[in-house]
Amino acid sequence: MIGAATLSGSVLAEAKLWGRLNRLTRIPGRGPLVVGALVLALATMALSLSPVDVRYAVAAISLLLLFGLAVGFFAVAASGFAIGNTMLIMGGIIVGAAGLMLTQIMCVAMNRTLLSVFVGGLGEVVSGEGDSYENVVGSDPEEAAMVLEAARNVVIVPGYGLAAARAQQSAADLADALAEQGVQVRFAIHPVAGRMPGHMNVVLAEADVPYDRLVEMERINSDFPNVDLVIVVGANDVVNPAANRASGSPIAGMPILEVENARRVMVVKRSLSPGYAGIKNELFERDHCTMLFGDAKQVLEDLVREFRAGVSTS
Ligand code: TAP
Repeated sequence: MIGAATLSGSVLAEAKLWGRLNRLTRIPGRGPLVVGALVLALATMALSLSPVDVRYAVAAISLLLLFGLAVGFFAVAASGFAIGNTMLIMGGIIVGAAGLMLTQIMCVAMNRTLLSVFVGGLGEVVSGEGDSYENVVGSDPEEAAMVLEAARNVVIVPGYGLAAARAQQSAADLADALAEQGVQVRFAIHPVAGRMPGHMNVVLAEADVPYDRLVEMERINSDFPNVDLVIVVGANDVVNPAANRASGSPIAGMPILEVENARRVMVVKRSLSPGYAGIKNELFERDHCTMLFGDAKQVLEDLVREFRAGVSTS
């Protein structure tokens, strides 16, 4: 059971990281299916039936059960006990406890209870694909570089798209270019930006972004009214004001980076497609928000080039 759950969990996690499962947030009738699978699996084991076909049945049932195990740390902790090895039990407990704490931190960051993570998906399936936008203002790197030249206090918000585009080095280059001109530049880190715990810290560390340039959500939110320009790079849900306003939204109550309070906002993404939660983002329609459409790496490289060219001629 543990092996099947862990293997299929890894396959699903991989599929999610590749963006193949974003829309599959809830399987119809999943609750009864999970309970039924659990009862069947436990009953089979309790009866101590050992023919090969029964073991195959348990493995198959476990694969179904996986859909109820949204977090995999149970498997890690349980494997130590199952094998009966003291070292493995200790290792399993430590990994399991760490996993539980991490899960709790993530739950707080997404405003969800631990129970809802285990028994449910991410709310109802809501598609933002067809949502229409009005008054969206597009821009280009040349124009955006001029805005950058006037800014003295800039915050970059990295999200899943920055990691997907492998744009961390370009973001670090942009920060360096700004800092060379005396601009105060910081990266605002949302605890669940990206697709795994600490995702943004890891990708920015890959590009050697100095740790003192990273600011956590709680510390930076009150400072956004003093920020001249926020550059959102491949982030969507973590800056979506719907979290504060729309009570029926899948992200309702989730703490967000309050970037709309800054003087200007630029959003770098390829289209108006929604993020992980699948909902519209009204930030893109705000008067002080402009869109820089394109792949994050390409756009940031162009922006750095235009910015450097601009400051060298002025
Ligand atoms: P998302 O809301 O998923 O938005 C990412 C955005 O990146 C998309 O709207 C996409 O727009 C853009 N993008 C993708 N590829 C791009 C590329 N190559 N260049 C430029 N943009 C690109 O990301 P987020 O704001 O980081 O929020 C994370 C979400 O994942 C939250 O809802 C969170 O709850 C959830 N989640 C997080 C975790 C952890 S532990 N971090 C785990 C599971 C789920 P385009 O397609 O238009 O480019």
